[in-house]
Amino acid sequence: MDRSLVLEFARVTEAAAINCAHWIGKGQKNLADGAAVEAMRKMFDTVPISGTVVIGEGEMDEAPMLYIGEKVGKGGIEVDIAVDPLEGTNLTAKNMNGAIAVMAIAEKGGLLHAPDMYMDKIVVGPKAKGAIDINLSPEENMINVAKALGKDVSDLTIVLLERERHQYIVDAARKLGASCKFISDGDVSPVIATSFGTEGIDMMMGKGGAPEGVIAAAAIKCMGGDMQGRLTPETEEEVRRVHEMGIDDVNKVLTLDDLVSTDDVCFVATGVTKGDMLNGVRFTDKYAVTHTVVMRGVTGTVRFIEAYHDYDRKPDYVKIK
Ligand code: FBP
Repeated sequence: MDRSLVLEFARVTEAAAINCAHWIGKGQKNLADGAAVEAMRKMFDTVPISGTVVIGEGEMDEAPMLYIGEKVGKGGIEVDIAVDPLEGTNLTAKNMNGAIAVMAIAEKGGLLHAPDMYMDKIVVGPKAKGAIDINLSPEENMINVAKALGKDVSDLTIVLLERERHQYIVDAARKLGASCKFISDGDVSPVIATSFGTEGIDMMMGKGGAPEGVIAAAAIKCMGGDMQGRLTPETEEEVRRVHEMGIDDVNKVLTLDDLVSTDDVCFVATGVTKGDMLNGVRFTDKYAVTHTVVMRGVTGTVRFIEAYHDYDRKPDYVKIK
């Protein structure tokens, strides 16, 4: 992919973030999501790619826009795209930290076509690459990761969604004296924090959305961290969907290379509400101000873009006022 495309991709998540920012704190998560989807979809029409949505808002008959298989872009290089126009719908509805508009773009065939179900995830930064094994217990993984990082396990910080299903991870951390950072929603940003290294987070563990898992894996690939996942289908229908993806063994360990099989990948996210990595959308008298991170797998460059969007000169599908 031409490197200048990352700026085009940034425009797409910026539009999504601006459009849904009006719904911050309004208790309307579906309307917020819809606004992000609409702006993202329309902005794609300006981007010189021939893109196929491989992770999107649902199957063709469930979603009017950005459905799986939908073609986007005004023509150009063929790419596959995983979108989450609003990651953290609850966070947005409640004006809580950490909502983002996000997507991953890869050369054709480069992203796992993860179905909408849960995935068990374990993620670390570059220094602990190779030290994780999702088949081992949380305790064993914490000990191995601490060793790789050259720190005492009691100095390890693990980020995880605060859910009853994760009590076994919390128990292991408590036993070892490791620290847990709980999040209420939105596990893409915390996954990235493991590899970005600025927030004191060493490891992410636990079950979250599989689509979010693939999108986050794109960032981990760009930053040189490590990740493993395992799909956890809960119904016959979900098992069928796993098999349909060509995965015979539903317990298959998905390595980072299974999740994202190419270095020709980009990750792009714009903050909607304020977060640890990205500022949320701000509105001044003249501008909507956005904060975006773009990453490229080929070079590993992580770039932050602060953009000032003039209200009077924006296309009308980005409803700023
Ligand atoms: P939204 O789809 O509402 O944005 O929620 C996203 C999310 O918090 C993900 O980040 C996470 O992987 C998943 O939902 C967790 O699912 P659950 O809330 O069912 O535990």
